[in-house]
Amino acid sequence: MERKILMVAVASAAVTLLTGCKRESSESTVAPGPNESPRKIITVGFSQIGAESAWRTAETASVRNEAARRGVNLKFSDAQQKQENQLKALGTFIAQNVDAIILAPKVEDGWEPILKQVKAAKIPVILVDRGVNVSDDSLYTTLIASDFVAEGRMAGDWLAKKLSARGDVVEIQGTTGAAPAIERKKGFEEALSKHHDMKISKSQSGDFNRAGGKQVMEAFLKAAQGSNTKIDAVYAHNDDMALGAIQAIEEAGLKPGSDIVVVSIDGVKAAFEAMLSGKLNCSVECNPLLGPAAFDAVGAALAGKPLPKKTIVKDQLFDQSVAKDLIGTRQY
Ligand code: AHR
Repeated sequence: MERKILMVAVASAAVTLLTGCKRESSESTVAPGPNESPRKIITVGFSQIGAESAWRTAETASVRNEAARRGVNLKFSDAQQKQENQLKALGTFIAQNVDAIILAPKVEDGWEPILKQVKAAKIPVILVDRGVNVSDDSLYTTLIASDFVAEGRMAGDWLAKKLSARGDVVEIQGTTGAAPAIERKKGFEEALSKHHDMKISKSQSGDFNRAGGKQVMEAFLKAAQGSNTKIDAVYAHNDDMALGAIQAIEEAGLKPGSDIVVVSIDGVKAAFEAMLSGKLNCSVECNPLLGPAAFDAVGAALAGKPLPKKTIVKDQLFDQSVAKDLIGTRQY
C-alpha cells in the first residue's frame, strides 16, 4: 500500500517535472485517507497486438494485474492482429490525454508518424516485448524486451548438439516484419552457420499462432514426401506454432520429438507438457511477465528520471531433461 501511494504521489509530481508545465489531464483524484494528501490516479493506455499465443495472453494478464495492483487506470486496446488498430489506439490515447502509453508493437515499421504525434503531446511511450524501426529513438522512452537474437542462437546451438551437427531443418517463422521473427531467424542462422552439414531447407511464416504452425508444417511434410527427402528437425519461432507443427507431424503418421526433433521459443506451460510427453524437445524461454517492469518505467518516466533505452529480460533454455522438475514452477 505504502509503495502504491509513493508511486502515485511521485507520478503526480512527475507530470509537472516531465513536461515543464502540467498537462491538462483526464485524471481523477482519490479522496485522502487520514494523514494522506490527495492522490492522483494516473491513466495509462496499453496497446496490445492481440491474443495469438499463450505467451501474449500471459503478457496481457501481467500488465493488467500490475495496473490493478498499483491503482493505475488502464485503458486497454486489443488490436486483433492489425497494426492499423494499434495506430488508431495511439491516436485515441492522445485524445484521452493519458499520462503514458505502453505499446507492444506488432511489426517494426510504420510507427514514426504516430509516435511523433505522441511525442508532441508529451506522453512517454514504454515499448514492451517488441522494438520499432524509427529514425529518431527519442520517439519512445524505453524498450523492455528479450534478446531475440540470443534466443534464436540458443535454439540453434542446442539443435546442433542434439543432431550432432548434421541435418535438414525446417523453420516456422513468426509474423512477417515483427522483431522476434526477424531476430530469432538471425540468431538461429548464426548458430547453424558454424556447421556445414546443417541447413535450413524451408522457411515460412506461421504468424505466431497454432493454426499457422500446423498449416505450414503440413505443407513442409507434403513437400518432403513429394521429393522423398527427410526433415530432421523443425524450429518454430514460438511454442504455439510448435504445438501446431506437432499435430501436423502426428497426423502424417510420424512421431514428433523422435522422428522429427522439435525446438521452439517461449517456455509456456503447454510446451513443458509437450516436453513431458516427449513430443517437444526444447523450448527457449521468453519471459512475458513484463507488467511490473513496464509500470516501474512509467513511474520513472513520469518522475523525469533517466531510463536506459533498452532493458533486456533474461531468458534461459529448457529441454526434456529439466521439464519434469520445473513444470511446477512455471507461471504462464
Ligand atoms: O514478441 C514475443 C512473441 O510474440 C512470442 O514469442 C510469441 O508467442 C508472441 O506471439
